[in-house]
Amino acid sequence: MQESPSTSSSEERFPQVWALADRISGWLSRDQAELLHEQARALPDGAHALEIGSHQGRSTVVLGSVLQAKGGRLYAVDPFIDGKLFGGSKTRDSFERNVAEAGVGDTVELVCDYSTKIRSSWTKPFQLLYIDGKHDYWTFSDDLKWRVHLPEGAAVLVHDCFSSIGVTLGVLRHVLFASDLRYERRAGSLALFRLGRPTRQDRLRILGEMPWWIRNVFVKVLLRLRLRPVARLLGHDSPYDPY
Ligand SMILES: C[S@@+](CC[C@H](N)C(=O)[O-])C[C@H]1O[C@@H](n2cnc3c(N)ncnc32)[C@H](O)[C@@H]1O
Repeated sequence: MQESPSTSSSEERFPQVWALADRISGWLSRDQAELLHEQARALPDGAHALEIGSHQGRSTVVLGSVLQAKGGRLYAVDPFIDGKLFGGSKTRDSFERNVAEAGVGDTVELVCDYSTKIRSSWTKPFQLLYIDGKHDYWTFSDDLKWRVHLPEGAAVLVHDCFSSIGVTLGVLRHVLFASDLRYERRAGSLALFRLGRPTRQDRLRILGEMPWWIRNVFVKVLLRLRLRPVARLLGHDSPYDPY
């Protein structure tokens, strides 16, 4: 299923895509956007992808730009939850404006609903899954089940992996001992898994991330306690949680 991307043109095009995405507020770092871009580039022409959690469209624009060039499609699933954290209808307005301004409106199809609500009735195939919705253990565990739609070798990318407690517990419970998903690598908290039988090394790589996860949880506690100078000693020089 994987095609080898032409690295030179990938390198040329990522900065343009990032320039579009980086105008949009959100939690995706440059390294993470590059990993999403790389994995979307490896998809065949006409491929479809599904994103859970789009917010204002930062990651949507990265995936949408690559899929547009391939004549593909991106399903962007987000219910635009009301409230201070995610902003409700105002966030939806920003999402629609940002997607249009980036010129990917013809490729991105907004599915304004909860991933957990629509999963069991979903029938459209897709070849890449990006999970960045609600980060509690139960929602994330359910979101992992979307992989039944993916072909062997497809990428499953998970944001806030080995930084969020809920997501990491979900990985330990549902991926560490799974027989169809293997862990490859991460860019910050964006982890790349792939549909396929894991080796012992793949499983050990997940366990190898535990010290980083514990460090991130510790940093979060320090930030809540307003102990930023102590967090700095752990290499975290930001007021925001590690991601
Ligand atoms: C961390 S933000 C996503 C950030 C986005 N990927 C970006 O690059 O900026 C999480 C989003 O998930 C959405 N969300 C929460 N629960 C969800 C669910 N069950 N299904 C889909 N989206 C959900 C929220 O409305 C919010 O917009």
